[in-house]
Amino acid sequence: MSAKKPNPPSSLDAYYEPSKAFSKAARIPNKAAYKKLYNESISKPKEFWAKQAKELVWRKKWSKVLDWKAPFAQWFVGGKINICENCVDRHALSGRKNKVAIHWEGEPGDQRSITYDQLHKLVCRFANVLETQGVKKNDCVMIYMPMVPEAAVAMLACARIGAVHTVVFGGFASESIVDRLEDSGAKFIITADGGWRRGKIVPLKPVIDHALEKITDVKKVITLQRCGNPVEMLEGRDLWWHDVMATASTKHEAAALDSEHPLFVLYTSGSTGKPKGILHTTAGYLLGTYTTCKYVFDMRDEDIYWCTADIGWITGHSYIVYGPMAMGATQVMYEGAPNFPDFGRFWRMIEHFGVTIFYTAPTAIRAFMKAGEELPAASDLTSLRLLGSVGEPINPEAWTWYHKHIGGGRCPIVDTWWQTETGSIMITPLPGATSCRPGTATWPFFGVDAAILDDAGQECKAGEDGRLVIRKPWPAMARTIFGDKQRYRKTYWSDYEGIYTAGDGARRDKDGNFWIIGRLDDVLNVSGHRLGTAEIESALVAHPAVAEAAAVGRPHDLKGQAVAVFVTLKAGFEESDALHDELIRHVGEFIGAIAKPDDLYFAAGLPKTRSGKIMRRLLKELVCQGTISGNITTLEDISVLEALQAKVVAID
Ligand code: WTA
Repeated sequence: MSAKKPNPPSSLDAYYEPSKAFSKAARIPNKAAYKKLYNESISKPKEFWAKQAKELVWRKKWSKVLDWKAPFAQWFVGGKINICENCVDRHALSGRKNKVAIHWEGEPGDQRSITYDQLHKLVCRFANVLETQGVKKNDCVMIYMPMVPEAAVAMLACARIGAVHTVVFGGFASESIVDRLEDSGAKFIITADGGWRRGKIVPLKPVIDHALEKITDVKKVITLQRCGNPVEMLEGRDLWWHDVMATASTKHEAAALDSEHPLFVLYTSGSTGKPKGILHTTAGYLLGTYTTCKYVFDMRDEDIYWCTADIGWITGHSYIVYGPMAMGATQVMYEGAPNFPDFGRFWRMIEHFGVTIFYTAPTAIRAFMKAGEELPAASDLTSLRLLGSVGEPINPEAWTWYHKHIGGGRCPIVDTWWQTETGSIMITPLPGATSCRPGTATWPFFGVDAAILDDAGQECKAGEDGRLVIRKPWPAMARTIFGDKQRYRKTYWSDYEGIYTAGDGARRDKDGNFWIIGRLDDVLNVSGHRLGTAEIESALVAHPAVAEAAAVGRPHDLKGQAVAVFVTLKAGFEESDALHDELIRHVGEFIGAIAKPDDLYFAAGLPKTRSGKIMRRLLKELVCQGTISGNITTLEDISVLEALQAKVVAID
């Protein structure tokens, strides 16, 4: 293979403009309109958000838009509202009554379509069930379910009565459930017997049972029958969903709750082993998710929207449940794996349901790239009009592949940067207005005062790396870490006075676009030079032979840190010494000699969580210690790690 630099970056540097027709139909049709509204939202944030908030259904209007005592914000103080009413009742009791809210597809191929009217009845019934079982306002309810409509019903029913949900991703093991039950104090659990994934039943209720051997004060466990796998039911504690729902009334009055009433706690990993319970509240979160759906996805009544996230993550909370439903959208929900029975599943579903807006993660896109473009080519994807990306920086190669092979070269791509803590999308193109450039999330959303600061708190110049911060409060911001105000203040608000630090490194280019380099905790320091692991990975995947790459640091006597990379190859490429050397050289040519990996391992697969994030922590342990001692409960496939371990040990 030639050492000639493949895919020269200049070819990926191009700007992509939305079509004239797309822009003309969009709510924000050009850059001038974006700039005007953005400037207004920053110079007069209270007026801006108050105007947006008028589109929601309120029980009582607020008396004060914002009360800000850094780092604690209160939005729409004095207002009364119910988020479930905004997401369900307002549509069910109006012209959207018979509009489909959810087209659901189970992994085995079973399908259900649920209208807003039907959703309303389900939610009312389940709210009645919760109350009958003793759940009260402010009680915490844990939800541990597969991707079924009932998961959304459970969340909405909690919100309806003012209970606080904490959804735990179905891939977490019982030890994680124990931690979260202890931290949240939840006494009620909603689960299912199991869910389908890659043709197999993933048991859920048995995992709960195992956790409840340690936590003995849970009062009720309600179990949905999904797969029919055998489960044990403890008399007095355990109830079947279908039994309790059978007799529940479809009438229920949503509670009028304070704007700042707690809505949910969602756990996310921090720099320490103990997960942080990120607390979100009602009105501001609703407004943030609603407004971003309106402008970023430019959602219309006729759209069929599909976000492939799991409900157990923030993306599922904000962009499956609350945002799209507040907009009265029709959406697709899918239970299983993207590659069951093959990597063409999503494309066939897009054709079948006529999906118009598709929102997924770069890691998935890279897997699709690896599987080959014949799969999307076999389905009719012409219904699509807009694509989205979230979760990690999207490398320009994946971006251009997504644009060409999924979007048919005609769909804008919104690369949305945000976090569990931010609640809603923060930096993003607006699809009718922004010139998109592969790899950058472009510009801040309305009301988001984003900046990049150096260690001294000065704003970085174009091209300089720094810390991504938000300088003004925004409605959907986290309110605290549940039960730990000090940790909240220390983690996010202590680098600079009164300013939110996202924990991500970033830089702006000369045109002002924000480029997210990756987590600062993943940033390496090699001979005094900072290197984003994401940058090295992006360089590697720019090589035509590479499907996916992960870079980690390991201690190095001379340089401080050395770079170790793991790469998986695309179909049709063979591992060889020549390719090994070529890839190392390629990174040097792409970024600079300093970034050249010291170690490069070929891998058949990379260790990932069930949501598809590469577990770099494990790779780091592997290269630093030659073995794994940390927690691997969220790992998707243990054999991947075993194979890598054998390689690392063999080479060392
Ligand atoms: C990363 C997911 C670059 C980032 C919504 C952030 C991104 C972390 C992007 C939050 C993006 C998310 N470009 N990086 N478009 N989106 N990230 O809490 O490092 O699961 O801090 O929220 O993902 O991950 P979280």
